[in-house]
Parts: sequence; C-alpha cells; structure tokens
Amino acid sequence: MSKKAIYVVDDDPKIGELFATVLRRDDYNAEAFTSPVTMLEKLDGGAVPDLVLTDLMMPEMTGIELLEALRERDLTLPIIMMTAHSSVQTAVEAMRLGAFHYLQKPVNLEEMRALLAKALDLYSDKVELRQIKRERKKAHDVDKIVGTSAEIEKVRETIETLSDIPNTIVLIRGETGTGKNLVAKTIHYNSDWNAGRFMEINCAALPDNLLESELFGYEKGAFTDARAGKLGLLEIADGGTLFLDEIDSMSMPLQAKLLSFLESRTFRRVGGTDDIRVATRIVCATNANLEESVAEKTFRKDLFFRINIVSLKLPALRTMGKDILLIAHEVIKYFNKELKRDVETLTEAAEQKLLDHEWPGNVRELRNVLERAMIFTRGSTLDASDLALLKTEGFEDAGADGYFRFRSGGSLEDLEHEYIRHILGTTDTSYAEVARILGISKKTLWEKRRKYNLDEELESA
Ligand SMILES: Nc1ncnc2c1ncn2[C@@H]1O[C@H](COP(=O)(O)OP(=O)(O)OP(=O)(O)O)[C@@H](O)[C@H]1O
Ligand SMILES: [Mg+2]
Repeated sequence: MSKKAIYVVDDDPKIGELFATVLRRDDYNAEAFTSPVTMLEKLDGGAVPDLVLTDLMMPEMTGIELLEALRERDLTLPIIMMTAHSSVQTAVEAMRLGAFHYLQKPVNLEEMRALLAKALDLYSDKVELRQIKRERKKAHDVDKIVGTSAEIEKVRETIETLSDIPNTIVLIRGETGTGKNLVAKTIHYNSDWNAGRFMEINCAALPDNLLESELFGYEKGAFTDARAGKLGLLEIADGGTLFLDEIDSMSMPLQAKLLSFLESRTFRRVGGTDDIRVATRIVCATNANLEESVAEKTFRKDLFFRINIVSLKLPALRTMGKDILLIAHEVIKYFNKELKRDVETLTEAAEQKLLDHEWPGNVRELRNVLERAMIFTRGSTLDASDLALLKTEGFEDAGADGYFRFRSGGSLEDLEHEYIRHILGTTDTSYAEVARILGISKKTLWEKRRKYNLDEELESA
C-alpha cells in the first residue's frame, strides 16, 4: 500500500514543519504549507492528499474558508482543524460545516496520531463510495433524458433547479413508460444533497401493513413475530431520496401518516414512541389522475397539495413528434453497444412507422421494439419490416399473438398461476392496472404473486 499523503497547513512555518516531520516518521507522506492558497494551487494542479491538517486562524484564509474551498472542489477528504483554546467554539462550528474533528493546541501527539488513523480509516471507504457515486452521477446526467420539446426542456430545467435544494418533495406524473423512474433517479444523482441513498418502493406492490413497516420501520416486539427491529426506508434513505412509485395506491390511513411526516419531518417506527427526524427527499410518482382520485375521495386532498408543489409532467411519446426519432436513435446507440450491432440508420418508411404509432407503452415500448429488431438484424439499417409493433387496443393484445394458451389437463391452480404470470409478463404497466385487468384487489394480487413466486419467475425469465 502506498503511503497516505497528509498536508499540514499552518502560517507558522515552525509548527508546520514540526508536524510534517513527526508524521513522516510515522510513515506518512507529509508536506507542510505556510499558505493555504499555495496548497489549493497544488490541488488544482491535480494533487490529491488523503487528509488535511490545518490551523484555524491564518491571516490569508481561515481554516473554515479553506474547508469551503475544498468542498467547492468536490473533494472527499477528512479535514482536521488545529485550534487554540480560545477558538474552540469556532472549531465546533467548523465540524458542523464538515470538518472531521479538531485538535486543541498545544497538540498532544498521541491524540493526533489516533485521530488521524481514525479519519483515514473511515474515509478510505468514503473515497471509494465517492468514486462510485461520480460514475452513477455521470450515468444519470440530465442529458440522458432525451427530447427537445418544451415539456422535456422544462423537466431538465426543474431538475437543475432542484439540485441545490435539500429535502424537496417532488411529484412526477406521466403515463407508463414515460420515464418517471428515470427522472426520479436523475433528481437524486444530480442533487448536491445525495450523500444518502436512493431507495424506491412501489406502493401498489405491498399490502398496507407491510408497506407501512417498509416505510417507517418497526421496533422489536411491534408484531408478535418481530423479534428484532427494522429500519424503514425513510431512515435508510436519510440524506438521500425515497421514491414512492404509484403513490395513488397508498391507503388513506397511510396517506395520513405520510402527510404527517412531510409536515413535521419526523415519524415514529411502528410500535415505537420516539420521534425520528430525517432529511429524506421524497419523490412521488403516479400515472393516475390524482385530481380525480381526490374527487373520488381515494386520495387525501391535503396530501395532494403537499406533494404537488413541484410537479413534473412527462409527455406521452405519441405527443413528442420528431423527438420520437431522437429517442429512437439514442436507444439504437445503446443497443449497438449492448448487443454488439452496427445499426446506423432507419429507412424513411421505418421512421414513418415509428412516427405513426400510438405508443401506449411510451419510451419503454419503443425500447422493446428496437431491442427486438436489433437482436434479429445484422445490417446497418432498420427497415419498417424489421419493426414489429404491438397492436394498440388494450392489453389483451399484448401477448405475442394476443392469446393465452394453456395445455388442458392441468389444475385450476396451475391455470391461475400461468394466467397471472402471462398478464404480468406481457403487460408493461402498474400492479394497480394488472389487478384491474384480473379483476382482483391489489392485495390479492400481491398474495398470488407471493404464493406462486411470480416475481422471481419473471425476474429470471
Ligand atoms: N425522455 C427519455 N429519454 C430517454 N430515455 C427515456 C426517456 N423516457 C423514458 N426513457 C427510458 O424508457 C424506459 C422506461 O422509463 P421508466 O421506467 O422511467 O418509466 P416509468 O414512467 O417509470 O414507467 P412505469 O409507469 O411503467 O413505472 C427506461 O429505460 C428509461 O430510461
Ligand atoms: Mg416506473
């Protein structure tokens, strides 16, 4: 392992050199600077130390200003402040702003060694995490949301606007396959406030009591079989984003609990009495008409107002005109890489076919159509005949030929298993919609998915 690099900054050259010498003896790669500005120049030249040990009061720039300068450069490294007794209060303030810790002058060397070791240890993971995060951020650049229409522009703009606001609540609306998940992740990864994780849950996928404990967690003993407590997603995503998909499917009592959290930013675990405070960004999505749900009294009006403050409407693909082709070309680029193909162009007839289609499944459907076409092609051009479009009326047609076949002789249960799998596998839509097609409740659908192990079956299909 290479030596860890430590920069020591102190306007008193004697002190800086003294510490650097001690640290070199401890087998660190230490360097002393009398000027914070010189150190920053070295960073801008590409140097990346593992830790900075800095004096708090310096004529050129205070330790706190230096801290801010490092933050601006998006560097994740521990900063330790050295301070005289009289300015301990300022050092505490520095910690609030992100310094790792402070050492009181005159510095006790043993204390310093222990603190450095701890900081370097804790940060070694963080630096790696930071790396991963940077890559994710790149993968979720706003430009990945393709389209030139005013609506899509607005979506990208809003995401940029939200980037420096912590604790936002956002509502994303749009038909199935219009990019709600994509936008939710893009909001998270483009935010300055994403030290925490991105977690998502589909509110239609779980029965009420399970959804509640997934969201809020529970204390040991909250249920008869709760032998240990469990953290809820709100806590797991603290400092990050919780994405509540199909928010319209949430039950009224749970809606009340969510609203109370949004108002107070605190909640209680199921079976708990402590108020827990988190800074979790809440992004909700729905393809339902929430105004209607409010009118029908299946969605709380107050919750609707609370989540509808920043609302993003994603356009249906059929309304996007020439953007359909723009997205198609992006998708082709993607599958060229993924499938090792060299498709360069669409014929005019193919373009027209894409422009004329209704796209009930929106961008997801377009991706599926192109993926299928590209699996079977070897050439550099896709023609209209390469594009197998699904009929658009209703989901009954969503199977390969619109029929569901079942070998006679099986049990009724087998039939049910097969049929539910068929609908889930051929329908690119919400569980709420699948439940509607099957004529059962979402809860029953959930029970059947679990009984027949359908999620796993479909995952591996
Ligand atoms: N404007 C866009 N530009 C590029 N890709 C897009 C765009 N909109 C959607 N996609 C892609 O289309 C696919 C479907 O998007 P996504 O899963 O986000 O849709 P959704 O609105 O969440 O659908 P559902 O309501 O069914 O959950 C994804 O692969 C996504 O990356
Ligand atoms: Mg989605």
